[in-house]
Amino acid sequence: MQDSYNPPSGSTPERKTPRRIFLREVGAAAMTAASYSRVLGANERVNIGVIGYGLIGKQHIVDLKKFEDVNLVGLCDVYKPRVEEGLALIGNPAAKGYSDFRKMYDNKDIQGILVATPDHWHALMTIMACQAGKDVYVEKPLTIFIDEGKWMVQAAQKYNRIVVVGTQRRHGKGVGEARKVVESGVLGKIHSIRIASYRNIYPGFGKTPVAQPPADLDYDLWLGPAEKKPYTAHRALYHFRWFWDYSGGQMTNLGAHTIDQVLYIMKAKGPTSVVSMGGRLAMEDDGEVPDTQDAIWTFPGGWIMNYAIREANAMRGDAASRGQAYFGTKGTMILAGGYQVVPENKIDPVNDIPKFSGHPVGGPVYTDTQPTPWIQASKGGVESDARYGTGGEDTMAMNERNWIDCIRSRQQPLCGIEEGHRVAVCCNLANLSLRLGGRQIRWDPDKEQVIGDKEAAAMCTKPYRAPWDAALKSALGKA
Ligand SMILES: NC(=O)c1ccc[n+]([C@@H]2O[C@H](COP(=O)([O-])OP(=O)(O)OC[C@H]3O[C@@H](n4cnc5c(N)ncnc54)[C@H](O)[C@@H]3O)[C@@H](O)[C@H]2O)c1
Repeated sequence: MQDSYNPPSGSTPERKTPRRIFLREVGAAAMTAASYSRVLGANERVNIGVIGYGLIGKQHIVDLKKFEDVNLVGLCDVYKPRVEEGLALIGNPAAKGYSDFRKMYDNKDIQGILVATPDHWHALMTIMACQAGKDVYVEKPLTIFIDEGKWMVQAAQKYNRIVVVGTQRRHGKGVGEARKVVESGVLGKIHSIRIASYRNIYPGFGKTPVAQPPADLDYDLWLGPAEKKPYTAHRALYHFRWFWDYSGGQMTNLGAHTIDQVLYIMKAKGPTSVVSMGGRLAMEDDGEVPDTQDAIWTFPGGWIMNYAIREANAMRGDAASRGQAYFGTKGTMILAGGYQVVPENKIDPVNDIPKFSGHPVGGPVYTDTQPTPWIQASKGGVESDARYGTGGEDTMAMNERNWIDCIRSRQQPLCGIEEGHRVAVCCNLANLSLRLGGRQIRWDPDKEQVIGDKEAAAMCTKPYRAPWDAALKSALGKA
């Protein structure tokens, strides 16, 4: 199954690699030695090291190779055959292969690290890269528990690094235009947003027995900060997604993309409460995360968001229900790559209740007012494949380009670490509610704290396995 990146069908948009990229708007403060490990010349290439050569790491390498101002100089993977295959793809005889990312971080000539490993590694690899003076592109989902995101934000600030999150769809033309539609107020009061991820992978991926890890796989380093558990084929390449130790299921996997767009469009910092229920109700395999999950968040300003995840029913009869729907008093905006505004009708509310007689004085007085649209229909953006909302645009290439540009300019990227953390908070809070039997979790988005629930608050953090706990403390300056 493809996770969430669909290469665009049809022609690939031209990727403009500027012949000369200027250091734009770089303030003196931003250019101190402490904040910028080495000042790049305008014509100098940015040296990049990639960690994780799986489904998406490979795609990143294919993309980055097309940038004339990028040098791929390192590739790290704990599965040896993948390092060999990846180095062959990179095709740079000077590029080095690694199994331990810390050795790659020692290379002072590397400016940027791209983290494309399973989710349980994202936080620590990012934090340690910041400590090593590298800028980072880290794949979504950012974290598997809330405190990891706080640590990542701290590290990016402490070491003054550029950190881009792999929620690339925010770059979509339709997303930017949809944001302006909401900003204009044309939809009236937006009171609710409905998002969904439906597909059918029933009966799942089977059950894999405990076995010896492949000789070429450093399973202990694959596990890293996660609890030591016996190897099964599913507890490693690609299928890690179905286990709580390494992932938050589709809530964090696909949810990270969609919720990122909602928060961006609504300019929302975070929810004030969430409830979520569901479970692995249909699959007949050894996965743990829900295949069926509903969640509802409430947000300051008076709106709710509900998210339906279905892994065992693709709702084939109703493709229109995919994507995001923003419900306003005057119209609905559907966003699935491109956006469409569908007007609501202005009616006399009295005419919408059943006609009856015999009511007391002061009862309804029916009128002959005809329904008229509140607003005009409109649409824009780039048409989507309606499943993942990637449209015909190569938003991943846009995000990669933005990262490289920001490494040079020291400007903040579109998909920055603070925004990525807020998205991850939404996802992780929903999973907290689910794992606590569906109870409502209240959240203070300013203080970033669970309100009035010690058990839930305790689940916002998790110890890392040694020696990674010490590595974390040292990077955060708490050793
Ligand atoms: N942005 C998107 O649209 C998008 C799409 C797909 C996947 N992703 C994300 O990319 C990440 C990777 O997903 P995938 O499908 O490529 O997984 P994958 O299992 O195919 O690849 C991950 C690779 O990381 C390697 N790895 C694991 N631990 C390592 C370590 N300590 N050091 C070095 N290498 C290590 C594994 O051996 C594997 O080769 C996930 O977090 C996923 O959510 C993002």
